[in-house]
Amino acid sequence: MQSVDLPKKINSFRAYQDTYQRSVSDPEGFWAEQAETFHWHQKWDRVLDWDFSKPKVEWFGGGTLNITENCLDRHLESRGDQTAILYEPNEPGGEVINLTYRQLHAEVCKVGNALRSLGIGKGDRICFYMPMVPELAISVLACARIGAIHSVVFAGFSAQALADRVNDANCKIIVCSDYNRRGNKNIPVKEVVDDAIALGCPSVEIVLVHKNTGETVAWNDKLDVWYHHRVDEQPLTCAPEVMNAEDVLFILYTSGSTGKPKGVVHTCGGYMVYTAYSFLNVFQYEPGDVYWCTADIGWITGHSYILYGPLLCGATTLMFEGVPTYPDASRFWQVCAKHRVNQFYTAPTAIRALMARGNKFVEGHDLSDLKVIGSVGEPINEEAWEWYHEHVGKGKVPVVDTWWQTETGGMMISGLGGLSPQKPTFAGYPLPGIQMALVDKNTGEELMGNPESGLLCVKFPWPSILRTTWGDHERCRTTYFTTVAGMYFTGDGARRDADGMYRIVGRVDDVINVSGHRMGTAEVENAINEHEGVIESAVVGYPHEIKGQGIYAYVIVADNVAHDDALREEIIAMVRQEIGPIAKPDKIQFVSELPKTRSGKIMRRILRKVAAGEVDQLGDTSTLLNPEAVQEVIDGVV
Ligand code: WT7
Repeated sequence: MQSVDLPKKINSFRAYQDTYQRSVSDPEGFWAEQAETFHWHQKWDRVLDWDFSKPKVEWFGGGTLNITENCLDRHLESRGDQTAILYEPNEPGGEVINLTYRQLHAEVCKVGNALRSLGIGKGDRICFYMPMVPELAISVLACARIGAIHSVVFAGFSAQALADRVNDANCKIIVCSDYNRRGNKNIPVKEVVDDAIALGCPSVEIVLVHKNTGETVAWNDKLDVWYHHRVDEQPLTCAPEVMNAEDVLFILYTSGSTGKPKGVVHTCGGYMVYTAYSFLNVFQYEPGDVYWCTADIGWITGHSYILYGPLLCGATTLMFEGVPTYPDASRFWQVCAKHRVNQFYTAPTAIRALMARGNKFVEGHDLSDLKVIGSVGEPINEEAWEWYHEHVGKGKVPVVDTWWQTETGGMMISGLGGLSPQKPTFAGYPLPGIQMALVDKNTGEELMGNPESGLLCVKFPWPSILRTTWGDHERCRTTYFTTVAGMYFTGDGARRDADGMYRIVGRVDDVINVSGHRMGTAEVENAINEHEGVIESAVVGYPHEIKGQGIYAYVIVADNVAHDDALREEIIAMVRQEIGPIAKPDKIQFVSELPKTRSGKIMRRILRKVAAGEVDQLGDTSTLLNPEAVQEVIDGVV
């Protein structure tokens, strides 16, 4: 196999500007040039085919490849003995695991063979419900090796949420662990899978169980298979399935403003090219660097920038099992010092949580190897940005604030570490190939000047744009491609300053961002409404010092139920059961009515203002169906 040849790395702001111009004037030529650096079985015949009105987007049509050959095989000759995955366990004294490219390749092949031996093949869906252990990375790559489609479900979701996702994609197999150690908790992972199966997952034929802690688990001989029984004796090579560029690589569920979470679909070729290109350029990764992204592989950040992007570039990617505050709030900085981390990528919520614990936790750790520090998941407030820059970056390490989404597959607006001008709370300029637009929400017209603010959209396809939502293409069209004709609509609002730098203001739809996790208000309301005492509810986000946004629920309950804390606890338990702990309301206010328009629509704008304590900015409420409801809401605020 040809040895590594990476996409070209931009090395100055001037070069960025030139590259950007080129990428816009000749997108096909530009992306073909990046794609040339990968290993293809067959070259594409068309670089791009697209029509946002359908939507249809095809990159590198006619090309064939396997992404894991590009992540693994093609590095064997040049860096087979370099660490690919550096694993830091939950316990500070626990065993660090270094998987070299050669070892990772062999492990992935073994699991690929094991999956094939279980009857799994191209196009089958595999659900992963696992903690951050090396076997998760290995088996996700093994899935891609054999052309199966992965659907990783964050291991904090409830049995119900897991079952919903398994059933939406008709997964044939679930890969899980026995237990999960996280901080000082021990979470029974397999038990949640058993509960999901008990709720009904008719498509599941096998549950492949990785022995993580080794504690006893309930066993069902009809379904359950031990991972090590199947994997250990497998051969160390595994022929990769040759995939079309537009074959599905994975599904990842994400919340929207309505209904159940939808399965965002990414395909092999474009996703490969874009995650590698963006990783290399934003982090300015150089061979030999140690890169650490603190996300979980259960989210898109983990897919693109723990696994695929870094491995495609032959990087050493650190994978961390634990949490930022265990055993104490210095853990991140200890790990950075211990492994001499060069690029560090985390979320504003973690920065704020650690900042709140005080500077003593970050002081005294040797962070001198850091070259770029990144932020992702939600707008970073100025105070957190300054703290990150000052205390982690020691005032000199560049901060990259990277704006993107599950649907975009990779980073879209961001500084390039050390090259771009930086301005706190501004994500900055779009990456090469990314044609952003601001659109007037009333007229639907693109706003051309600077400064401006409006709906954040993208005018032209990029290689890792979502292709569809699993099983429901129409939903993909209406969610992303109808708000603004001819453009992809992100759901965010943004501002562009006089220099053309973008600042993301936040969601303009009914989606809230809690600790960098996306939550649909409708989804939380549906969970609350499952409680038998609840008649109706309305959920909004409110500013929360650590989480960015907290979840505020206004709930109408039946007259004969006591409006007390016991009921609040029951409602919270219901949300945990339906979705998981990340969706539980921070505040619950019982009301007898919700303010509504004359057409019966809940006035969320008013509820948001009240929850945020901005009662002086309610505007005219006299045209409501029930103006008196507003006063009740204000009086009862919690
Ligand atoms: C939403 C996407 C992309 C990985 C994690 C979240 C918000 C994300 C930023 C940022 C301001 C941001 C947006 C976006 N968001 N990054 N740097 N600055 N807002 O992925 O769950 O798909 O959520 O997160 O609102 O639409 P996601």
